[in-house]
Amino acid sequence: MQSELSYIDTPSLLIDSAKMERNLQEMAAIAADAGVALRPHVKTHKSPSLALRQLELGARGVTVAKIGEAEVMADAGIRDIRIAYPIVGESKLSRLTRLMQMADVSISLDSVEAARGLSDLGGHIDRHIPVLLKINTGLDRVGVMPDEALEMAKAIDSLPGVHLVGILTHEGHALKEPSREGARQCAIQAGHTMAETAGRLREAGLGIAEVSVGSTPTARDIAYVPGVTEIRPGTYIFNDYNEVTLGVATEETCALTILATVVSIPSNDRAVLDAGSKTLTSDLLSPPSSRKGYGYVKGYPEITIARLTEEHGILSLQDARSRLEIGQQVEIIPNHICPVVNLADAMYLMKDGVCEGQVEVLARGKNR
Ligand SMILES: Cc1ncc(COP(=O)(O)O)c(C=O)c1O
Repeated sequence: MQSELSYIDTPSLLIDSAKMERNLQEMAAIAADAGVALRPHVKTHKSPSLALRQLELGARGVTVAKIGEAEVMADAGIRDIRIAYPIVGESKLSRLTRLMQMADVSISLDSVEAARGLSDLGGHIDRHIPVLLKINTGLDRVGVMPDEALEMAKAIDSLPGVHLVGILTHEGHALKEPSREGARQCAIQAGHTMAETAGRLREAGLGIAEVSVGSTPTARDIAYVPGVTEIRPGTYIFNDYNEVTLGVATEETCALTILATVVSIPSNDRAVLDAGSKTLTSDLLSPPSSRKGYGYVKGYPEITIARLTEEHGILSLQDARSRLEIGQQVEIIPNHICPVVNLADAMYLMKDGVCEGQVEVLARGKNR
């Protein structure tokens, strides 16, 4: 079975440009309608050209996790960068000095130790570095509990080289919910917790201008919670099977697929793709689901990508030899898109099934 895409070597990442553009415009419209700023997390696409498109559509700035990602964005001319990750350690602080000469940088943190490092740097370069206190609204990763926020905020605010401008959370635990309604409740709860926390800090005299929240599963609901000023979704640009399972995306709104080739059908209940964990990653679905495996093979809902080794994706299916052919290409919607993109040098831009160019993943691998 010769595919229309047989001129593209596999495994490859394909972006459906029209779907991506619709996803970008939809989120920009939600932020505008809700009256909040949009600051997309670029961890999903890791590509300055796509970040620039998000800015063109009205995003206030970008969010990154690592200084290395911020450096790539700043080198591309992006001037408003929020690092939603605590910056700890001398070598990162010295890279931050250079970064701050190129862009307006703000940083989230959850400790006096991290704030002190930034304050010392601020004193050294004669700047007040904008910081946001990270609040734990349920993900239990980093962040202070809401009832500890006031004490921590006061301690940070008393440091001379930083300026506490707001509070920030990532309500990523919504992705563990069993349904769209569960994610909605999670969004509303996190939004209220953030608004109340900001209110308490303001009553104590702290200048909390920003209440920043963010995740794709919650964005459509949390943007409308009064008191929220900014949303930071990332995954929405492409979506993935996690979002489909949760009910905030559909197969139709998944804009990125992995093109792979069937390279072996060793038995009638097993076939092998040339995409293993080096392409698909080993992430399983996050929301509770009866669907198992390492991605969704489009057009074959009954096939499970049951096992992976680095370069092999082992499919489990009935009647494999009559349903698939060696050399056949298939498209896979990954479970979790962000780490998949991180493993690719480039993504192909597809329009009406034709490759029109490529996007380089310039910020891949930037884990420092
Ligand atoms: C701090 C932070 N903000 C925003 C996001 C974006 O969330 P999502 O990938 O659900 O769009 C992430 C994702 O991991 C994150 O860690």
